[in-house]
Amino acid sequence: MAIETTTASLRLPPLPYSENALEPIISARTLSFHHGKHHRSYLETLSKLIAGTELAELSLDELVTQTAGKTDHVAVFNNAAQAWNHRFYWRCLKPKGGGNPPPALKQKMEATYGSVEACKRQLIDSAVTQFGSGWSWLVLEGAHLKVIKTGNADNPITQGLRPLFTIDVWEHAYYLDYQNERPKYLEAVLKKLLNWEFAAENLRQEAHPIRAAA
Ligand code: FE2
Repeated sequence: MAIETTTASLRLPPLPYSENALEPIISARTLSFHHGKHHRSYLETLSKLIAGTELAELSLDELVTQTAGKTDHVAVFNNAAQAWNHRFYWRCLKPKGGGNPPPALKQKMEATYGSVEACKRQLIDSAVTQFGSGWSWLVLEGAHLKVIKTGNADNPITQGLRPLFTIDVWEHAYYLDYQNERPKYLEAVLKKLLNWEFAAENLRQEAHPIRAAA
């Protein structure tokens, strides 16, 4: 996989589907704001913050991992991690998603959680109980799956974990369509939009750190 340059990683990636392709689960209006305003804003702010500094040479992955926990780079980390998280999140969804995961991923889910449904329930519980803004993730820790949640912009790659799947639980991801009913958004996305093939693809990339870019 080619190393992603900062120039490429700071460009707003197109959605992997049209803005209305996830309706009625996620409306075109939500995607228009979420991708066209929020995601774009993280990238534009990040570009301004790193322009002319030594950070301008880093890839998006490097920006996230090298500024995590650094008190002098909080704004860079927040915007870089949000750019990474959204790039990844779009690919975790697809029209007519849901259904059953591919066999290798299904076996891992059954080994850790007993069943696919139990694993999905963990993801939903994790996302529902994330206080305030954040993300719920299915990650690989060593050889085992784990469901975790992160607050605000935080990203599992800073903990050495490999993200397989995420769901955005910032209100901007669902408020226009579901108002305060976060569980309804989560249930619908996991049932109808979850891109299991993308999660399984991330599972197979044993030799490479996960990259958010296509
Ligand atoms: Fe978001």
